[in-house]
Amino acid sequence: MKITWLGHAAFLIEGKAKVLVDPFLKGNPKAAKTPEEVEADIICVTHAHGDHLGDSIEISKRTGAPIIATYEIASYASKNGAEAIGMNIGGTVEAKGVKITMVSATHTSALIENDEIKYGGEPVGFIIEIEENRKVYHAGDTGLTAEMQIIGEFYKPEVALLPIGGHFTMGINEAVYAVKLLKPKFVIPMHYGTWPPIEADPAEFKEKAEKLYRYTKVIILKPGESVEL
Ligand code: NI
Ligand code: MN
Repeated sequence: MKITWLGHAAFLIEGKAKVLVDPFLKGNPKAAKTPEEVEADIICVTHAHGDHLGDSIEISKRTGAPIIATYEIASYASKNGAEAIGMNIGGTVEAKGVKITMVSATHTSALIENDEIKYGGEPVGFIIEIEENRKVYHAGDTGLTAEMQIIGEFYKPEVALLPIGGHFTMGINEAVYAVKLLKPKFVIPMHYGTWPPIEADPAEFKEKAEKLYRYTKVIILKPGESVEL
């Protein structure tokens, strides 16, 4: 599989298909691509906040890639002309050969449009089986939660994409503990460095996580960089 960090929580995960997660590119100071140039067969959206729903509707319209999200976000996306598959926490959807399971995240998910706050469903994470028995966990925006122990034991993700920026999500020390619960082979930190409130040093996270949990390798990417695993 190939994983490219596009900045913030946006990733392109390539295996049986190209899965784009949380494509917030326009307005993202660290975005590695524009919404016009990014590729996608499937788009996963973890919650309705602008830095996650981002440009997914525009990208879906251009590429025909369905947006996989909670029923609430999927309804909003299809009303706005995008392809969408609504699902909910605990369920698995198979699209283009890739199995996508929706799991809990601890956060909020309001949809804010023209200063009006609408219910955007619950925030989620995804377990993406990008190749046979090769699973990537995108945690979305989340605090440290005991759910991660179940995710680690039951789904056994090989790769975890974890927020480390603090303020709106887990910070470095919580994310280190999340590694203990999840026991992934590889971790790629995300959701840091985009703006001043979420500044965090990924090298500090790598050092702490790898020191405590030797089974995990932390891979630090720069926006636009890829890793083949
Ligand atoms: Ni958020
Ligand atoms: Mn966010």
